[in-house]
Amino acid sequence: MNIDVLKSTAKELVAPGKGILAADESTGSIKKRFDAVSVESTPENHRIYRQLIFKTEGIEEYISGVIMFDETIRQLTDDGVPFPKSLQDRGIIPGIKVDTGAKDMANFPGEKITEGLDGLRERLTEYKEMGARFTKWRAVIAIGDVIPIKTCIESNAEALARFAALSQEADLVPIVEPEVLMDGNHDIKKSEEVTYKTLKSVFAKLSEHRVDFSGMLLKPNWIHPGKESGQEAVDDEIAETTLRVFKDVIPVEVQGIVFLSGGDSPEESTGHLNALNKMGDAPWQISFSFGRALQKPVLEKWGGKSENVENAQKEFYKRAKLNSLARSGKYEKEMEKED
Ligand code: 13P
Repeated sequence: MNIDVLKSTAKELVAPGKGILAADESTGSIKKRFDAVSVESTPENHRIYRQLIFKTEGIEEYISGVIMFDETIRQLTDDGVPFPKSLQDRGIIPGIKVDTGAKDMANFPGEKITEGLDGLRERLTEYKEMGARFTKWRAVIAIGDVIPIKTCIESNAEALARFAALSQEADLVPIVEPEVLMDGNHDIKKSEEVTYKTLKSVFAKLSEHRVDFSGMLLKPNWIHPGKESGQEAVDDEIAETTLRVFKDVIPVEVQGIVFLSGGDSPEESTGHLNALNKMGDAPWQISFSFGRALQKPVLEKWGGKSENVENAQKEFYKRAKLNSLARSGKYEKEMEKED
């Protein structure tokens, strides 16, 4: 493990004004996204779509890194250049999702455990040879009447820690993602309680597994009322609650925090990020690693048609720029109307 390499990659990923694009939808998730815009989900259509985003002119100003799925990291641009190389050539760091998905956890109805540790050391070596410099592993924690149960949180935290340790061993910066879902009718207090417990457990396990916090990034959820709670997600309340809990449980050595969007709209996600950065007193870089919040309007504009590529790229550029502004609290809702 070379901590200098890890630290410098992690710092580059959260450089001021920049954030990460999560374009690592698995075969199942990308099919859902394509179905929503009536595009057939084939490897070639995935390649065409991902090329559209990756090749958008000027995004390197706002996008520090891209997380890819196994299929994507092996694909080429129209000119025959592997995607990782074409990104790296423009100063965008290639990354890879290395978990193999959240599966039902035996004996724990409604709870998930993320798989992918077997053979991970060998897969990391292969991804590194392909040009990856960072990795991601997503654990899923659902909130319900009687869940999550401690065993589920701890099993996922253990897997996240083993993933992070293996990643650092290979000089790949781990993005540790324990996602507490916003699905459900719980209030913001419940989200706070579960997120607190989850992060506490994750950092205890990371510590036990001797993960160096300065060579990793955390990808958390916002502390947020459940989507079906009928409660409004107010930017300032989300920002204040999230930051208060984070200051309590996240070590200051962690190189940066890169939020997921989790199902909020692009405008909502940018709004939350802006509010948090506006508070201005976080000890970490507070950035983004959005999937849907960067891509939903882009997919809608594209709709699988080559004549729409330019407009779709304009949309992607706009979202990247607005999230970049939110990195320093300079985003305003009115900017959504500008072209
Ligand atoms: P969303 O921003 O769409 O939640 O995706 C982020 C992600 O990478 C989930 O693993």
